[in-house]
Amino acid sequence: PRKVILDMDPGVDDALGLCVALASNELEVVAVTATGGNVLPALATRNVQAIIENLDPQRWPRIGAATAEQPLRTDGRDLHGSDGLGGAEFQVAELANRHASIKVISDEIRQAPGEVTVVCSGPLSNLAAVLQREPDIAQAIGQVIVVGGAVACGGNITPAAEFNIYCDAESARDVLRSRITKTLLPLDVTRQLSMRFDLLDLVKQGDGRTARLLDRILPGYYRAYRHRMGMEGIFVHDAVGVVMAMHPELFTTEPMSGDVETAGDLTYGATVFDRRSKPDSQPNMEVVTEMDVAAVRDCLLRGVKG
Ligand code: BDR
Ligand code: CA
Repeated sequence: PRKVILDMDPGVDDALGLCVALASNELEVVAVTATGGNVLPALATRNVQAIIENLDPQRWPRIGAATAEQPLRTDGRDLHGSDGLGGAEFQVAELANRHASIKVISDEIRQAPGEVTVVCSGPLSNLAAVLQREPDIAQAIGQVIVVGGAVACGGNITPAAEFNIYCDAESARDVLRSRITKTLLPLDVTRQLSMRFDLLDLVKQGDGRTARLLDRILPGYYRAYRHRMGMEGIFVHDAVGVVMAMHPELFTTEPMSGDVETAGDLTYGATVFDRRSKPDSQPNMEVVTEMDVAAVRDCLLRGVKG
């Protein structure tokens, strides 16, 4: 299996991604590192712990704690609930002496140079901090999958910006400008899949741990999508990122030259791509342009049955 670190800000779609990753034979989740974003850092850490405790997988990944001093512009509680997990209100013991996410990421990458894929489904603060402290680590990271940004569809948190990038655009810029091998999975693509009520039905019928956990988390998220977005279904951006780590063959990518706006009043946090026929600079990342929507949906449905 492919070694992955999931760097996340749970968040309902992050939680769904974590469930699918832990159930998959394609992935070995070596660590789950928390970052603030949808909720404040301390709550994101507790949410990671709550999900893993409830799933109780055969092999527990290391858990990294989000740093309290993260500069965050906004949060995602309108869609994800004030607890970040759809109002499920899990109780977990606060574990003292947890290593910081930044240390966990660094340790795991150094232990298996070139082998680890990092799936970032929250703001990019942790990875940017690791790169700043240890610039040489860029060559040791196998690949980074960034769930975030937008190519041509506009934003979701502002007219121009996607949530994960907007939360900490300076960090996102540092990561995208770095030499890491990276693939961006933008909103243009993750929005092609909306999970209708078949997902909810499936978790209601299931009696495994994953289904039971998701049955506590998902209903509130469906309700928020209906009330706030007028949708009869949900986007599951981050879980699509996990499927991409499992099945890259379901995704088409193109090399592109892209950067992040960190100054504009109206455009702070927007991802900007040079799509001219003769760009000024060499491509610095792969960007997903298409996916096999039906196959990704099936993979997610299979992943939540347990
Ligand atoms: C991203 O925003 C967050 O609220 C979701 O968890 C996802 O990572 C999508 O724009
Ligand atoms: Ca997220």
